[in-house]
Amino acid sequence: MNAEKILQAARLLADARHVACLTGAGVSAESGIATFRDAQTGHWSRFDPQALASQAGFAADPGLVWRWYMDRLESARERAEPNAGHVALAEIAARVPRFTLITQNVDDLHERAGSTNVHHLHGSIGRFRCNECEREHVLRAEERRAEMPPQCAVCGGLVRPDVVWFGEMLPRGPIEAAWEAATECDVMLVVGTSGIVYPAAQLPYLASENGATVIDVNPEIGALADITDLFLQGPSGEVLPRLVQALSALHKE
Ligand code: OAD
Repeated sequence: MNAEKILQAARLLADARHVACLTGAGVSAESGIATFRDAQTGHWSRFDPQALASQAGFAADPGLVWRWYMDRLESARERAEPNAGHVALAEIAARVPRFTLITQNVDDLHERAGSTNVHHLHGSIGRFRCNECEREHVLRAEERRAEMPPQCAVCGGLVRPDVVWFGEMLPRGPIEAAWEAATECDVMLVVGTSGIVYPAAQLPYLASENGATVIDVNPEIGALADITDLFLQGPSGEVLPRLVQALSALHKE
């Protein structure tokens, strides 16, 4: 990664009043959490998204869906630790006047790295609710190991993870916060997303249309290339710490 580009990005951050940041599965890849669309390792290269992440899939085989999410929960909560990219984003947030972190990830690695007020557009894998009456369900240890989802104590409906499945609405609070930040920010920092799942992928476009500079951190050029002003090619666990270093050096000047 070109040092001049890192410095250019650091200058943009140093001058910004409001930085909005959109992260995707790539930011957690170096923590050992699989992405969705990377060939070979991505979830959707191995599994059918409709079978595992839709109402129809849950109705057809609730046990299959439950076990898949319980395995992902275990890898996110018990095996994965935040990586240098997560930590760097919390550090950038502390160095700019306003930082809004929007993530498509359902893990809690941003929070565990010290980020606060994270807007989870696609929900959280560690929260549960009834698929019928929507009441929150507090998961018990034995339910994690069960072959079938537990039943809601109130209505008897099946309990599901509080994540967004294909065809479902995004949660209102996070989407409103994300839209506002994308409209108002002067820098949109995009990290580790393929940029093809909407409406999340709309956010960098919205920011760009409203005059923000779009910086993309990713090992691969993706769908956002046409609106990216500065492309920082590489894994976020390597690129973002360098950005923090450059930003700190600018602050000392
Ligand atoms: P994808 O799997 O579509 O894209 C992951 C992106 O991360 C790709 O652009 C990779 O090039 C990049 N990447 C891989 N390793 C990286 C690294 N070390 N550092 C930085 N980037 C890296 O994941 P998302 O864009 O997050 O939705 O997918 C969006 C949504 O699609 C997900 O939230 C999920 C999925 O279906 C729901 O579950 C609702």
